[in-house]
Amino acid sequence: MKVTILLGSVREGRESHRPAHYVALKLKEKEIETDLIDLAADPLPIMGHEAGYDKQAKDRIEQISKRLNKSDAIIFVTPEYQASFSGVIKNAIDHFYSEFHKKAIGVVATSAGGMAGINASSQLQNVILGIGAFPMPMKLLVPHVQNAFDDLLEPHNEKIANMTEQFLDEFIWFSDALVKKKNAMNKGEHAA
Ligand SMILES: Cc1cc2nc3c(=O)[nH]c(=O)nc-3n(C[C@H](O)[C@H](O)[C@H](O)COP(=O)(O)O)c2cc1C
Repeated sequence: MKVTILLGSVREGRESHRPAHYVALKLKEKEIETDLIDLAADPLPIMGHEAGYDKQAKDRIEQISKRLNKSDAIIFVTPEYQASFSGVIKNAIDHFYSEFHKKAIGVVATSAGGMAGINASSQLQNVILGIGAFPMPMKLLVPHVQNAFDDLLEPHNEKIANMTEQFLDEFIWFSDALVKKKNAMNKGEHAA
């Protein structure tokens, strides 16, 4: 199974890249092929503002499309901004559609306070329904994200480590069930 992580926090001094990289690390430890798309390193132009699509932007859209297409399942990582998910992740989602179709999508949400991105995560799960994908019911919520990890990505407390483990076990189960179903259907179609 191949998993793509889409990181929707790009501001200087951001904190959400830590849980994104930690989740990637833990997936790799489970021998899952993992690709992390960091929208700070690969920024997308504003969707629909075609005047802003220079060659570099067009190439980047194509590359990100290919990377998403390769995945069997996806994880969105978003901070909570103004009681919702980040505009950067919504802009990225708006660029694509078939890339997400019928895939399992897990949500990781972060906040500086104790509410752990609850609004961002619930609203993003609703958007996932709108793009024809399957939001995993369990989400990973990281409160006080600025204190959650050290610089080497080690979680500062056991709770984060345990929650991540539970989230990933559930994500692998959920994604795998969909992949198996699709494979079985493809085999049936070819046999017919
Ligand atoms: C524009 C903006 C709006 C924010 N709005 C909220 C909010 O509504 N609720 C909240 O708990 N945190 C809010 N925060 C704080 C973020 O949760 C905090 O920056 C956290 O570190 C995750 O975002 P980051 O990846 O940008 O660091 C906001 C931060 C910014 C920059």
